[in-house]
Amino acid sequence: MQVEEYLSAETLQARVRELAAEIERDFPDPDEPLLLVGVLKGACLFLADIVRAINRSVEIDFVAISSYGAATTTSGEVRILKDLDAAVHGKHVIIVEDILDTGLTLRFSYLIEALKARHAASVRVCVLLDKPSRRRVDLHADYRGFEIPDAFVVGYGMDYAEKYRNLPYVGILKLEAPE
Ligand code: IMP
Ligand code: MG
Repeated sequence: MQVEEYLSAETLQARVRELAAEIERDFPDPDEPLLLVGVLKGACLFLADIVRAINRSVEIDFVAISSYGAATTTSGEVRILKDLDAAVHGKHVIIVEDILDTGLTLRFSYLIEALKARHAASVRVCVLLDKPSRRRVDLHADYRGFEIPDAFVVGYGMDYAEKYRNLPYVGILKLEAPE
């Protein structure tokens, strides 16, 4: 398996700073609590970088969501495996995801609904990468780093069978042609 660099570390960092600036602009009141919730594990590097680029107080927390697995259905079998530790009442919450693909994971985890039910002041979605051509449910990101074509990407937190998360860049995974 080979990984071909697609978005360099510098390109990622520059865009992360722009997204952080957008978030700062949208939440100018330092007294309004802002909570960024990373979806494990893929979003951890993106979250770590974006919070360091936001020049205002911000809390962080994490959730884990079961993947819908190989048998892709819309049967609602996605579950929240690890819930937030933080209270969300009255806070502006931004869910931070590595990549928005079909949208099934976020939609059928009901994470957005759960946060609203707990009286978050607002709930937004921030994704590093967006593959709109693959979307199967009506879900859009309020903040998105890059729109990408339908390819399997790894690095900067994203994996293939738990590998490549530590790459500082985003690469496209090339499956070797059979001999
Ligand atoms: P969705 O439910 O189809 O939107 O997919 C959500 C999750 O699938 C993402 O948060 C990733 O963890 C994973 N995923 C989707 N596409 C890719 C990819 O190209 N590389 C690595 N992980 C991916
Ligand atoms: Mg993910």
